[in-house]
Amino acid sequence: MDTVDELMAALHACRGAWDAPDRSGDPVDLHDHALQTAALLRRARPSDKELQLAGLVHDIGHLLRPGDDAHHAEVAADAVRGLLGARVAALVRLHVPAKRYLAAVEPARGLSPQSALTLGVQGGPMTREEVADFEADPHAEDAIELRQADDAGKVVGLDAGVMEDWREVLDLVAATTAGERQARV
Ligand SMILES: [Fe+2]
Ligand SMILES: [Fe+2]
Repeated sequence: MDTVDELMAALHACRGAWDAPDRSGDPVDLHDHALQTAALLRRARPSDKELQLAGLVHDIGHLLRPGDDAHHAEVAADAVRGLLGARVAALVRLHVPAKRYLAAVEPARGLSPQSALTLGVQGGPMTREEVADFEADPHAEDAIELRQADDAGKVVGLDAGVMEDWREVLDLVAATTAGERQARV
């Protein structure tokens, strides 16, 4: 995805799109899930725009490649890396490993029925070695914060604003990313 307009179009297209194409999955559509996750992160980390945007876009893999639960995080990360930068892409990619991590270190923690179901195809709870590797990742703490918002952002009927609220933040982070790329060449 090369422009904020293109990404905004994809986010709008999340209205009426679901993590499971047959609607057997989570009870809110991808559009409301994106807005709720981003709003929770804005409350938890008001100054971290990149984390908030990672929350906003983390599940667009379900839109871009329906039915591929196992790879939806990588698909989304690849789609936004050029536009929103390496950190946002890393946090998006880590939202599934963070779920596998939390399933290993806090097995009693509740997941939505759909998240529990897809945990299997995503590799199940992390092994002890995987836990150690995950904890060594500089993005681990932020990825866990994102995952907690992800798991909480599935409330039917909760108003978390409108997608256009995020255009300005997307423009800002996209401009910073383009500026950094320019500075490197
Ligand atoms: Fe996801
Ligand atoms: Fe999600």
